[in-house]
Amino acid sequence: MSVPKYKIPEMINLPSRQWPSKSITTSPQWCSVDLRDGNQALPDPMDPEQKLEYFKMLCGLGFKQIEIGFPSASHDEFNFFRKLIEEDLIPNDVFIMGLTQSRPHLIERTLEAFKGCKRGIVHAYIAPSDLHMRQVFGMEREQLIEMAVAATGQIRELADAMPESDIRYQFSPEEFTDTALEFSLEICEKVFETWGKATPEAPLIMNLPATVERRPPNHYADMIEWFCGNFSKRDCISVSLHSHNDQGMAVAATELALMAGADRVEGTLFGHGERTGNVDLVTSINNLYSRGIDTGIDFSDLANVAETVERLTGMPIYYRLPYAGEYAFTAFSGSHQDAINKGVHKLAEAPECFGMGWKVPYLHIDPADVGRKFERLIRINSQSGKGGIAWVLEQDFGIEIPKAMQPELGKYVQAYSESVGREITGDEVHTIFQNEFVSPEGPYELIGYWPRPDDNDPTFIHGEVKVKVDGEEKVVEADGNGPISAFVNAIRKVIDVDFCVDDYHEQAVGKGADAQALAYVPLKLADDGVIFGVGADSNINQAAVRAIVAGLNRIAKK
Ligand code: KIV
Ligand code: ZN
Repeated sequence: MSVPKYKIPEMINLPSRQWPSKSITTSPQWCSVDLRDGNQALPDPMDPEQKLEYFKMLCGLGFKQIEIGFPSASHDEFNFFRKLIEEDLIPNDVFIMGLTQSRPHLIERTLEAFKGCKRGIVHAYIAPSDLHMRQVFGMEREQLIEMAVAATGQIRELADAMPESDIRYQFSPEEFTDTALEFSLEICEKVFETWGKATPEAPLIMNLPATVERRPPNHYADMIEWFCGNFSKRDCISVSLHSHNDQGMAVAATELALMAGADRVEGTLFGHGERTGNVDLVTSINNLYSRGIDTGIDFSDLANVAETVERLTGMPIYYRLPYAGEYAFTAFSGSHQDAINKGVHKLAEAPECFGMGWKVPYLHIDPADVGRKFERLIRINSQSGKGGIAWVLEQDFGIEIPKAMQPELGKYVQAYSESVGREITGDEVHTIFQNEFVSPEGPYELIGYWPRPDDNDPTFIHGEVKVKVDGEEKVVEADGNGPISAFVNAIRKVIDVDFCVDDYHEQAVGKGADAQALAYVPLKLADDGVIFGVGADSNINQAAVRAIVAGLNRIAKK
């Protein structure tokens, strides 16, 4: 008989499923398994010192349950427990968790590791799937139940002998999503009975893992809803999720399973863990944050967390990872950049239009909430639109270039980007702006301009200009109806360009005594062409005349 290599996983028989119409409205409890599942899957696992730094970071972020290792697996793992406990390095409100196989000598060693701790979770696991029973253990179901019950009884006894510690119990039927639901329930009920002391205040944690992601996320949700609905003392257990990412859907599976009634999520920062990793807690937690849920975890300096994890694990974070990836808040396309610019400017309208404080095109959250900066929002490449370039100058440097000047600047930026053959940064855009518009090379150099109001009519100006033309210093005088017209009349005497000054635009950059005026002056030429020059000075008239000289140098260059 020929059988297919793969087949569609069987649906869960749950016609009355409720989860598809539920929303997640409150935060689950979060348990970091970075130092166990995450660490065991690193090409170069962390040493105790590195684990300690990681542990402190997790505590600082607000994690209250942290699996810190597999104490019976090695001396280092055991000693790490001892160090944290003996050196009083565990915050009072944090539960440390340790994994053990369900074997008597390993359990004994594990409980020894917990001695003297204030709050601990002993985590035992066993795989009740047919696959494991047949091909790994060679056991029958009854034998497996006996083993789980014996392990639980032994843990209970050893925990009872440590009355100074608040020791909780977590049981994981490994490969839950590949195990017959009725059998998972049966073994979990027996474990629960044996533990015997779970209450709503101190529940037994039933951790139901998708050890390997073999099913679509909706199946996981169905299984969790079924389990929650069929467990005898639902209020005395905490239903916990532990999903791996073999099909790239661990975050989705976790969210659907939370909708299905789970209370708790185990995972790792950035999804480190066996094979394709555990569910990424950074994404899961920030997803809930993005919907206005108080998660209890502080990712306001995510860049620092990312840097620390990269350093300690030796594994780089993928560029496009949500929230933390380098490109998570980067728009390459000009139309996206332009839309972001417009959206941010109209942010004040968001509460009334959309009933929320943040609603911006292409940015589902405010990057600042995870410590990302606006200056990293947009990178300029040869595809970038004019609007995006203006946005970078405004955001990063407070420079508000007028709309009419944007196409001209855009051409320079594009030409530069093409010449270097890569995306360019905000700093490079600023340099182009400075070099091309503020201080372009050319034959004219302004040494000084002295505008003097007329003694009888102070609006009438007598101007004196000192300027170098091709290195030769000249002094010219002229009058005008204002400081700018007096300057233009004077400078026209020493240069051979037919131009007039159109309406110009000015702005202040910076505040208080350090404020500078920026003047953007369009010089209109005889052929109707317009060339912009930009001038900066603490005095607005001086800024405007500098802008005119910059424009004249640009004309000469052309
Ligand atoms: O993936 C898994 O099933 C595990 C268990 C030990 C909980 O890591
Ligand atoms: Zn795992």
